[in-house]
Amino acid sequence: MEKIIDLIEKKIAEAFEKSGYDKSFAKVNLSDRPDLSEFQCNGAMTLAKQEKKAPYIIAEEIVKNVDMSMFEKVEVIKPGFININISKLFLSNYCNQMQNENKFGFEANKSNEIVIDYGGPNVAKPLHVGHLRSAVIGESIKRIHRFAGDKVIGDIHLGDWGLQMGLIIEELKSRNPNLPYFNENYNGEYPKEAPFSIQELAEIYPTASGKTKVKEDASEEEKLKAEEFKEKARIATEILQKGNKGYHELWKKIMEVSLQDLKNNYARLNVDFDLWLGESDSQKYIPEMIKKMEADNLIYESDGAMVVDVAEETDNIKINPCMILKTGGASCYQTTDLATLLQRQRDYNPDEVIYVVDKRQEMHFIQVFRCAKKAKLVSDKTKLKFIGFGTINGKDGKPFKTRTGGVMQLSALIDEVTKKVYDKLVENRQMSETELKEISEAVGLAALKYADLSNQTAKDYIFDMEKFTSFEGNTGPYILYTIVRIKSILNKYLENYSSIEKCEILEPETDTEKKLMLLISEFNKTVEQSYEENAPYKICSYIYELSNIFNVFYGQTKILKAEETKLKSYISLINLVKQILEICIELLGFSAPNKM
Ligand code: ARG
Repeated sequence: MEKIIDLIEKKIAEAFEKSGYDKSFAKVNLSDRPDLSEFQCNGAMTLAKQEKKAPYIIAEEIVKNVDMSMFEKVEVIKPGFININISKLFLSNYCNQMQNENKFGFEANKSNEIVIDYGGPNVAKPLHVGHLRSAVIGESIKRIHRFAGDKVIGDIHLGDWGLQMGLIIEELKSRNPNLPYFNENYNGEYPKEAPFSIQELAEIYPTASGKTKVKEDASEEEKLKAEEFKEKARIATEILQKGNKGYHELWKKIMEVSLQDLKNNYARLNVDFDLWLGESDSQKYIPEMIKKMEADNLIYESDGAMVVDVAEETDNIKINPCMILKTGGASCYQTTDLATLLQRQRDYNPDEVIYVVDKRQEMHFIQVFRCAKKAKLVSDKTKLKFIGFGTINGKDGKPFKTRTGGVMQLSALIDEVTKKVYDKLVENRQMSETELKEISEAVGLAALKYADLSNQTAKDYIFDMEKFTSFEGNTGPYILYTIVRIKSILNKYLENYSSIEKCEILEPETDTEKKLMLLISEFNKTVEQSYEENAPYKICSYIYELSNIFNVFYGQTKILKAEETKLKSYISLINLVKQILEICIELLGFSAPNKM
């Protein structure tokens, strides 16, 4: 369906033309002063300078020429604004049409092939709060693009090829040097069972990583020891990357065990990936990638490393050359990202590759994108997009930590939020324990995801458990609460009627009812904007407003006591609100329970 604001603008543009003015000035916006009008056009103000005429006079001329069929009021306000209210009948008809349209009038006419790279956890390290945003935002962006018709492939892009693997291997070796994986001459079968459990693995990495760090006041000997261990891990990583059989088998075990854990965690977040590829999968593309770079004379040696220049004349900051191989030929973060692009090009020839990654990695992506384009690893048409997100901070403004100051693991965070919601629900609700648990999990997830998504992606935000789990205000639980409220009205209705039909939505009778319909009519525009800008927060703001106005309407209207035709109109209207809210939260990546 055409957006309501565009329909209005067209009508106003006709009046501009009829009055002898250029219709490009007929821009219509939502009113800045909703108390005075619903929409406004400031075109006469802009025209005044060029026409050397008072804006008021221009506006008056235009207003006289407006075809009023879809308006309730079009009037001039000094010094020359045109205030517009839409006709009630036009609006209710628009809502009626929405009821019957696929996707409620949102035109899903996109058809891009998109790869979205999100999640990006590092294998064998527990997921922590820093991994939340990529997963949550990426999932939502993926859903929004799919809703619009794009073909989207979500790839988790595991960090499975870096130094952490060498650290774990080295740590295991020091604990258990007799494992066959470390025996160069071993020719037998490797054991089926991994030599560690997930709990052990969760301890092995931090221990190993701890060994590479020293306190400021450490002795020379301690410093040396840390350096030595780090060097060993670096070498182990290199040996692994060069394809050593035993190391590779051990690596496979690390992958097996930690992937299972990752899968459970992401499932709990309602985040799911089409591809579980990682940095390691890009290895086989490296030789070909280097060849391409050599053929075009792009790659050269610098201090032992191999690099490609990516600076451009128009840069106003210094962009260093992109490192392709480290001294000794080991691959680095840029290597795997570039080779992965070549892989994605081969497999999908995408129109766009979107990365949802911590904004502090922006420079890395500037280098990688430029290098990929220069070396023609992707086609000319392929857009490479970096969506950088801000940090989740604690109330002290520093990155969010546990109460004892450690890194907050993601599963612990989800547990805490769920528990908080549980405590609220248990206070005054009659539910079975199973139900309580299920609902707490759903509401907790909504709290967590909504809090994250309602903040603009690039901004940092403060993690405030109390606020996020509140059933009032701009929160996930509040949105769910509104949906549940509508569900319960519909259920009451069903006590007397056999089904919820799509009946005619009658003209609004009150200002609130009209406002509710106006907001409903903005659904297509909202989704389109959040698509264009990859901005889930726009959907959040929209459903918050829609919920607010619905709740006011609910407070003012005896819905179930209305006479039959009006009752059916109300039921259709609130059912439409419910369905729109449900679609929106689906796009955000969570869902509503039946009661709460
Ligand atoms: N594993 C990386 C990290 O923890 C994030 C990966 C982001 N995606 C990418 N293609 N580089 O920092």
